Amino acid sequence: MVAVLMGGPSAEREVSLSTGRECAAALRDEGYTVVEVDAGPDLCARLEQIKPDVAFNALHGRWGEDGCVQGILEWLRIPYTHSGVLASALAMDKERAKAAFRTAGLPVAKSGLWPAETIQRRHVMEPPYVVKPYNEGSSVGVYIVAEGANTPPKLAEGSPDVMMVEEYVPGRELTTTVVGDRALGVTEIITDGWYDYHAKYAEGGSRHVVPAEIPQEITLYCLDYALTAHDVLGCRGVSRTDFRWDETRGLDGLIVIETNTQPGMTPTSLAPEQAAAAGMTFGQLCAWMVEDASC
Ligand code: DAL
Ligand code: MG
Repeated sequence: MVAVLMGGPSAEREVSLSTGRECAAALRDEGYTVVEVDAGPDLCARLEQIKPDVAFNALHGRWGEDGCVQGILEWLRIPYTHSGVLASALAMDKERAKAAFRTAGLPVAKSGLWPAETIQRRHVMEPPYVVKPYNEGSSVGVYIVAEGANTPPKLAEGSPDVMMVEEYVPGRELTTTVVGDRALGVTEIITDGWYDYHAKYAEGGSRHVVPAEIPQEITLYCLDYALTAHDVLGCRGVSRTDFRWDETRGLDGLIVIETNTQPGMTPTSLAPEQAAAAGMTFGQLCAWMVEDASC
């Protein structure tokens, strides 16, 4: 029996519920017996009671993607999908993940962690730059400070005390999904504005070009960088690495933004689409993840 862990308390709860529902339905179609579990404070007790053969981790964001749930599953000796404790924690901390990327020679944008109070008092970097939580996903709580902006950003009430400030990298939005030891391809995401929460999840919020219409050299570097990022973080199963590419600068304009260890599997998400383009149905992808699970 497979327990699909979904929902949870993070800012990406709704995204996770959508991922979880899609994956649970696909696994049932593949012949698995599936229980859907909304990951609340009683998660340990529920898992001890259900005793699943495998936990399919469909959680996104803090607690589900940062090593916490992975630790519980290790403790309970339940094989689970996606990355383990350390890789999850490392990838979820965008600043530390970038430190690991640098050691592997991957190109990343200049950035640092700053107290929210300082970020609001003065420009900590020459605009344009981006202010974002260093440990969230789906573009929740992201600010773009435009070139020539006079004033620093005013952060919303309840923003984290420390945030990441990153040089704004202009260019095209590209992404590559890794399944096991294979990078599936490159997708370009085209949006009217920037690729925010709405563009990510609203029907028609963005257009995806699979495979991306970019030079072969850039495609090959995206595939190579995504595999390197997956490996240097110690990821397992499926991950998705996001890039920006400033085509006016050729290969020098290709930057690794981040690696997602729990890529979205919603109807508008990128990983399933890329798998389909590579000849893997959604059901086959989910089944592969269950068979790849370990603890
Ligand atoms: N954080 C979302 C779910 C993603 O990376 O797809
Ligand atoms: Mg992300």
